[in-house]
Amino acid sequence: GVGPDLAGLRLVVSAGGTREPLDPVRYLGNRSSGKQGYALARTAVARGARVTLIAANAGLPDVAGADMVHVQTAVQLREAVLAAAADADAVVMAAAVADFRPAVYASGKIKKVDGRDPEPVALVRNPDILAELSATRPKAGQLVVGFAAETDDVLANGRKKLARKGCDLLVVNEVGDTKAFGSEENEAVVLSADGSEHPVPYGPKEALADTVWDLVAERLT
Ligand code: C5P
Repeated sequence: GVGPDLAGLRLVVSAGGTREPLDPVRYLGNRSSGKQGYALARTAVARGARVTLIAANAGLPDVAGADMVHVQTAVQLREAVLAAAADADAVVMAAAVADFRPAVYASGKIKKVDGRDPEPVALVRNPDILAELSATRPKAGQLVVGFAAETDDVLANGRKKLARKGCDLLVVNEVGDTKAFGSEENEAVVLSADGSEHPVPYGPKEALADTVWDLVAERLT
């Protein structure tokens, strides 16, 4: 196995998927299971790092040895990530963050009215946490890692996204009806801002996590 090669590093991982409430009983959500982010946190703890895992609705057991922070919405996730990033050597944004949230939160349950069409749901943009973090780097020399799920032109879209977000590494995986979401396994390419590409063959999410930490550690030293 791997020794404590990440000892002395403070690492932050976000995992899961945000839920954006419409009313007390409904939300806009996504299909992220949180498993990849939890695997990142577990492997980092196993390799000796101090880890903060910011979990959005993953429904998974807390990671032993990690500082856990539980959030629901993108706005809460942003607050938690920025707070934890202040003294972090690296931040990995594995969470699926809703791009939009309902413009209005109804404090009472939205009701159907006989004979009336439903009201459209107006949406507003959520903050882009990865882009903000990449632009501000709360700690000098901090490494920022993003994830991207793409359905087509995976590498070309990944390159564009890496440049647009301004992060150091982008883990790109192809998603479809049966791929990645909820699965124990993953297949990905890690794109680096230095132009290099690191394919990770289909395998356990821990293997992809270890590759991410290898690339992070290389770039921090
Ligand atoms: O733009 P897209 O959602 O495909 O980007 C995915 C990456 O950006 C993930 O790392 C995700 O955690 C991050 N993200 C974010 N804030 C958003 C949307 C995505 O940090 N509002």
